[in-house]
Amino acid sequence: MKRSPEPRRITSDFLIVGGGIAGYQTALDLLPLGSVALASRGSISSGSSYYAQGGLAIPWGFDRDAIDSHVEDTIRAGAGLCDEERVRLLIEGSEEAFATLVSYGVPFDRDEKGEFLFTREAAHSRPRIVHAGGDKTGSLILKTLAQNVHGHDRFTFLTPCRLTRLLKGQDGRVAGGLFMDETGDEWLEVLAKATIMATGGFSALFARTTNPPSQVGDAAAVCHRAGAELERLAFTQFHPTVLDLPGGAPFLLTEALRGEGGHVVNEAGERVLFRYHPDGELAPRDVVSRALWLEARAHPESPLYLSVTHLPALYLKERFPQVYNHCLSVGIDLSRDRAPIRPAAHFQMGGITSDMEGRTSLPGLYAVGEVASTRVHGANRLASNSLLEALVMGHRVVLGIVTDRTVDVDLTPPPEEEREIPRVIPTIPSGRVTMKMVRNILWEKAGIVRFNSRVQAGREEIEAYLAMMREGPVATEGVLLWNALELSREIFNDLLVAPRVGANFFLEGSPADIGPSAQEIGKG
Ligand code: SIN
Repeated sequence: MKRSPEPRRITSDFLIVGGGIAGYQTALDLLPLGSVALASRGSISSGSSYYAQGGLAIPWGFDRDAIDSHVEDTIRAGAGLCDEERVRLLIEGSEEAFATLVSYGVPFDRDEKGEFLFTREAAHSRPRIVHAGGDKTGSLILKTLAQNVHGHDRFTFLTPCRLTRLLKGQDGRVAGGLFMDETGDEWLEVLAKATIMATGGFSALFARTTNPPSQVGDAAAVCHRAGAELERLAFTQFHPTVLDLPGGAPFLLTEALRGEGGHVVNEAGERVLFRYHPDGELAPRDVVSRALWLEARAHPESPLYLSVTHLPALYLKERFPQVYNHCLSVGIDLSRDRAPIRPAAHFQMGGITSDMEGRTSLPGLYAVGEVASTRVHGANRLASNSLLEALVMGHRVVLGIVTDRTVDVDLTPPPEEEREIPRVIPTIPSGRVTMKMVRNILWEKAGIVRFNSRVQAGREEIEAYLAMMREGPVATEGVLLWNALELSREIFNDLLVAPRVGANFFLEGSPADIGPSAQEIGKG
């Protein structure tokens, strides 16, 4: 982007915000219809897709039985909050999504006869997860999609771009976005007939997370400020098996390790999860995370571990190269050592309210992937359904855009005053509140197990910080904080009203005296 007192201005038929799997799949499907500008905060490794390890869940065979079984597992894991009709659309869309990836050349793992290899993850009743490069599925899919998009003469890649405002045409329709670079010195206005949010979730708003730091939900906050409805923000999925080393960053130890036979054990080597759920290590993710929370609380002196030392060393190295090598780099040889684990925020079931063709509550604005709330994941997402959602919805949003006759839209530019670069934004006097403080509030007060008193306290803290906001100069840190606080307020508001099932798990009483039973923790 060029330094300029005025924003640089470009027009494109379609504007996609976000450079992960959902964004690139959408770009590929839109390019035959018109010009596509994709605005991203950075390279393809800056968002969550790149780090997806487990794989892509598909109802292999794609016959009625396979589809019904995948739908049933998704709904069971979703703890009563899935929209069944939409789940069916998602699963039925998998055949095309998978075939497209194979035709692009994604190197899914196969056996020596050339047949695809399938793994199992928690809450799946059968092995149905395809993977690539062992545990490098996300990065290999993303690289393949990006290679197919970059170089196309109707494609423009814009980076580094941080969305600061949605633009609305004279007719009130969303007509693009205003972006700044990382410093706030350079600005870019993109006018478009359809604007598609594909920015991922906001799990990095929690102190402990598997997500890269960029995933703090700022685009969702911007859309909400423009009037887009958000929903189900209470439903944060915490991944149970995340490496926990003193001073070390959390690192995901894919659920496929448990699907392939890994055990969760305590210091004494006992497999603890069967106390909570008959499926043990393969119980739904929310149940396993809560069980680990309770175990840690009941036995703070005894760390919990993921153990795969009983699996052949060569197999571990070849099937899980990324995880194996990362662990080795921090001194843990998974073929000999147990890996200490503690859950971390991983995925958002809620987000921008969207239908199954990506439409949001604002005309001209669409949402795909984790940023969207389509209700397919209910109260707890089934493992490896997230890449599936990103791909299937990347296809389906184009149906919405075509049905809405978006390409025929007469693009009315926004009024001049709306196009002005903001000189000041609401911000907090320097140092009094930091992102770290906000992330600690979310982790402590809206974490794996919730208590009314803590949620109320968290909400009050966020409100108090918002009340401290004064107008100040535009700077990245201030913009991020403003968005984080506004989104956190919405999360806390939703925690108080959302159904208390699945990932929105509450215990009665005070956090100090509560002693929940294994049965309570294990319920959906
Ligand atoms: C994992 O590999 O355990 C994560 C996959 C997912 O989030 O579905």
